[in-house]
Amino acid sequence: MYFTYTNSIWRNLKNFIHENSVIRRKFSSEVKQEVKFDNFIEFRRAQASRSILVQVQSENSYVDLCNYCSKFGDIIGAHHYELKDNSNYILIEYKTLESIKEVLDSAHYNLESTGIPAYSPLLWFKAAGVVKGNSVKLLNDSNKKGILKISNGLYQTREADVMELILSAENVSDQIKTLHELTKLNDLEIRLRFLAAKQIENSISGIFPKASALPFGSSVNGFGKMGCDLDLVLRFNQGIVKDNINSRLVFHTKENLTNERSQVQKQMECISDILQIFLPGITSVRRILQARVPIIKFHHLLLNLDVDLTMSNMSGVYMSELLYILGEIDHRIRSLIFVIRKWAQSVGLTNPSPGRWITNFSLSCLAIFFLQNVKHPLLPPIDLLNKSATINDIRITENGLNCTFLRDHSILDFRTENNSELSELLLQFFEFFSQFDFSNKAISMNKGSAIIKPDHSSIYIVNPLEPNLNISKNISLEECERFRIEVRNAAWILDNEIENAKSNSKSTTKLWGIANLFKTSQETVIKPNFFFKPRMVEIKNLFDDKDEEKVISDENDHLNIKESVKTLETNLTKKFKINKTSDR
Ligand code: CTP
Ligand code: MG
Repeated sequence: MYFTYTNSIWRNLKNFIHENSVIRRKFSSEVKQEVKFDNFIEFRRAQASRSILVQVQSENSYVDLCNYCSKFGDIIGAHHYELKDNSNYILIEYKTLESIKEVLDSAHYNLESTGIPAYSPLLWFKAAGVVKGNSVKLLNDSNKKGILKISNGLYQTREADVMELILSAENVSDQIKTLHELTKLNDLEIRLRFLAAKQIENSISGIFPKASALPFGSSVNGFGKMGCDLDLVLRFNQGIVKDNINSRLVFHTKENLTNERSQVQKQMECISDILQIFLPGITSVRRILQARVPIIKFHHLLLNLDVDLTMSNMSGVYMSELLYILGEIDHRIRSLIFVIRKWAQSVGLTNPSPGRWITNFSLSCLAIFFLQNVKHPLLPPIDLLNKSATINDIRITENGLNCTFLRDHSILDFRTENNSELSELLLQFFEFFSQFDFSNKAISMNKGSAIIKPDHSSIYIVNPLEPNLNISKNISLEECERFRIEVRNAAWILDNEIENAKSNSKSTTKLWGIANLFKTSQETVIKPNFFFKPRMVEIKNLFDDKDEEKVISDENDHLNIKESVKTLETNLTKKFKINKTSDR
């Protein structure tokens, strides 16, 4: 017997999965018409603005807490979770923003502690009996129990349980779907990510009331796995609209003419101090300011998150939007990328720390490129999204990157005729990259085809938003070779598994299907060539500026960029106006 479980563990697990899928279905039906990336982000940001997080004694405190909190307004949801240290939290969502103001105005600081009195939506619930709640007014359900939507919402299905459910699937394609369903980010995890962003935004709102902290990367691009890091970009001026341009009153500001890069580094030092010194829950703050994209890394104890905060431009957000849109085009894409990421992690191709190995982001790009090149493509070249953009899709970053592409894929002139099962697509992915000529060819998702490699990088993936940059520049020759060996192994294994699954009856006790792909590299069929240098690298080498291509270095560059952003915006707007007239 491969795994043995008592009935009660099974029941709990199945209940949990059922509960979660009900929530997901409910959420997806709530936002179905708002599936555009901007709407999704706005929906989640608004939800976070109407939410507070309260530390409680245990899950049982929720009736008391909801009783107490409902005097500040209608509560529309409560989500409980417990962390490894047995601390318990309930996230409460109010119907209106006014309630948050009331609830925070009513809260007080613990006068016996030496804590710094920071104002944030992270609170704790004082022991019972101190203040009694008034009459209960619950929006969804007069029964208080009905308000707790999720209990233990950060519960991650154990690896062994995921495997057991994979083994009980019908066929290889179902295994892939099961893996996706069980491991993708859930509703509560997304809520906590947006709450983390809100906490940072609030902390500087005095001087920067228009500041936005925006999640990007796998937390929002549809490829996020439970427990993935949160990537955040903090922009001081994101909410500044050009509408006020005619106002005769202009804010006094400090001149910001010095080298933009060193200016950003200074600002980040300051922000990292605010996070470290003042914000509850934020710990282990580290600055990596010499990198091409300087970042602040920290851990959020109460929200259970590892966060990378940048203050660079919006390109990461637009890149996430692009991946989100591509993932929306066909229902197979996200499941396929999930199984590829999981496979790469299992065989040791990816690694949580940065290094010379392939990243999840590069893997997703490889999968996208494959889907553009498969017989009957599932995805169009990105150039088609660029060409199909409308005037509402114009986005230019502050440093002049043109991130204009069609946001509403439903009007895209592209339909796939590919009816392949997920299992076939996965096999074709492995076969495709077993034969890909990485030595001479670069991958262009914009063109949807291979192009001549511009330099000697081991793998060259053209960044679709910054075509002069290579997304996979970090990958060493050795890691590229390991990738080629592992895709060949995987193709060989999967081919056999698909054949066997057709003829043999499936077993829930013996490994079969994709479970056989998830073996550690020690178990692989072909061993990597040990001729290459060891994989570990010095962290400082990763952030060596000499290695980087585009560094904005002086005041003139800064002014030139402002100028060219303006010209680009004007030209694009003109172009759209001309097109519109000629369309008529
Ligand atoms: N990004 C980019 N160019 C790169 C690296 C990253 O534009 N060369 C952007 C992408 O939008 C990417 C995001 O930064 O999704 C975050 O990068 P990273 O955390 O490395 O990747 P994720 O997609 O978030 O994957 P993971 O789940 O491993 O965090
Ligand atoms: Mg990430």
